[in-house]
Amino acid sequence: MNIPNEKFEEIAQANDIVDVISGYIDVKKKGKSFLAVCPFHPDKNPSLHISQQKQVYHCFSCKASGNVYTFIQNYEKITFIEAVEKLAARAGIELKKNLLKPDHANELTRLYEINKSAAKYFHKNLENLTGSEKEFVYNYLAKRKIEKQLITKFGIGYANKSWDGLLSYFREEDIFNNEDIEKSGLIIKSEKDENKYYDRFRGRIIFPIFNESDKVVGFGGRKLYEDDLGGKYINSPESKIYYKSKVLYGLNFAKEKIRYYDYVILVEGYMDIVSLAKSGIENTVASSGTALSEEQVKLISRYTKNICVLFDSDLAGIKAAKRGIEIILEAGLDLNVISLPEGEDPDSFINKNGKEEFEKYLNNKMTVIDFISGLYIKEGKFETVQDKSAFIKEIIGYIGKIPDKIVRAFYIKDIARKYSLYESDMRDELEKVLKENKIKSFPKSSVVLPERRLNIKKEIDKEIASVEMDLLELFINGNEEAISYLENNLEIDFIKNKEISKITEYFLDEYINHGKIELSKALNDIESEEAKIIVSKAAMNLHEVSQPENNSRDMLLTGVTGKKYNLKFAKDLIKKFKVKELETQRSDMKGDTSMMNEIFEITKQINELKKT
Ligand code: UTP
Ligand code: MN
Repeated sequence: MNIPNEKFEEIAQANDIVDVISGYIDVKKKGKSFLAVCPFHPDKNPSLHISQQKQVYHCFSCKASGNVYTFIQNYEKITFIEAVEKLAARAGIELKKNLLKPDHANELTRLYEINKSAAKYFHKNLENLTGSEKEFVYNYLAKRKIEKQLITKFGIGYANKSWDGLLSYFREEDIFNNEDIEKSGLIIKSEKDENKYYDRFRGRIIFPIFNESDKVVGFGGRKLYEDDLGGKYINSPESKIYYKSKVLYGLNFAKEKIRYYDYVILVEGYMDIVSLAKSGIENTVASSGTALSEEQVKLISRYTKNICVLFDSDLAGIKAAKRGIEIILEAGLDLNVISLPEGEDPDSFINKNGKEEFEKYLNNKMTVIDFISGLYIKEGKFETVQDKSAFIKEIIGYIGKIPDKIVRAFYIKDIARKYSLYESDMRDELEKVLKENKIKSFPKSSVVLPERRLNIKKEIDKEIASVEMDLLELFINGNEEAISYLENNLEIDFIKNKEISKITEYFLDEYINHGKIELSKALNDIESEEAKIIVSKAAMNLHEVSQPENNSRDMLLTGVTGKKYNLKFAKDLIKKFKVKELETQRSDMKGDTSMMNEIFEITKQINELKKT
């Protein structure tokens, strides 16, 4: 690749950095400087300084810095060449085509190219179908009212009902190697034969997923055939160019419309986007299967601060809507909800009732308060005083998520008036919620949502045997002697819980390499959220009960649980693991009379272990 230096200069000069950055985020002038909230790290303060004179930016908080090219490269997650293309186009500067052949040396570029190529293949494939397959597929499309112009607009395609439709295409073209194609998730390596691959998408309608700058980053495939045992939709896995929490299906098509109408309709599925577009409603995006993420909301907030949530009217949809509402409120955006008749989603509703009926719903957006109360009423839970106060508490829970005090105050006023309650009581309740939120969100180091964290916690409690928790406690609190005993006597197979076994391996590694185990380091090093929670829990056990009054050295050593994490504890623990192991073996043999001798032998061993 060689673009002459003068060309870079020319393009950069034609694209003022303040102008360009202002196109992405709010930039404010302050004295000679321009300031913005840095998009490269979570922040509320304007730490990003832009110098118009020097044509550079620098964030005083996360240290991100660079020029106009690096800004859009990092912001849009595109390659340098793409940034050059983009800025050239923006300034109306022509780049000779041959100047910009895709840079195949770059992995990201290759992934983009592979996806683009595949999208074209699937799309053409749909056009070129013949025979009974054609009849079947076009029948399906007709049934779902996916018209030609929608197929074109959304680049919809078809993956053959075959193991190697796409694979053979790529092999014929011979531009990309299989390892790279596998990285895009489009083909999968065979488990039996290392050198064999097969298509991920087989016999499915294909929806290409575009990122904000119109690049295909992945695909969703809708099941068509009865004998397809896969899920209703199969999606591309994440890759270096596809982070699910950072992509919203439809955003690339909807950007302008969202800005124009200054609001976005958030739906659940690919088909909702397609069917709404058919009715000329195009300021729409879909979270497509993943729970709405903070990042997705942030993405939206660049185009508008007004979100209308329009999820499926079934249990799953309502649950997803509630979770989405929390995230949207937390992000400080303005929120409305549309609730369709039970069992409908936007796609089914429009196809059944037409555009005009749908528009009635669109013009009847509800506030969060009305949406939640509607759910209570529908379930017949709005009768008694208890019901109503449960509702008020739930709704105040949502209001507690809103960062802006004034906005909260308006909501509170609204509720008080609507349900003839004292505003002061509402405010007291809100204060309570705010206090709780503060406790919950501290320390705020992970991106896992509180609700998910609670779920994980419950599962963890159910699954983990107490010996395994004891083991972790011992690693964290034990003395040198005890841990060294573990190192020599613990067998990883003793541990049944996968997370604990990973944590244990980490602890042993730490002990062997650094001679000690440090909790704070461990919490930094360990990546899995589940594992982190387990480790914290093990660490907390010692301190869970209130501090002992007696400050004797012995008390400090044993902690407040009364457990002494010493050599004896370690020995007992290993014994317990061994007994457990033997007991499992024994119970596997029970009922098998040919195993009587073995069972007897094992029982003897167990008794011996218990005696010592
Ligand atoms: P839905 O089950 O509501 O699908 O899931 P849909 O869009 O209404 O699809 P049709 O109308 O039955 O064809 C909503 C979205 O969740 C994701 C997809 O993105 C889907 O559009 N999803 C759903 C999956 O990723 N996998 C699944 O198995 C199901
Ligand atoms: Mn749906």
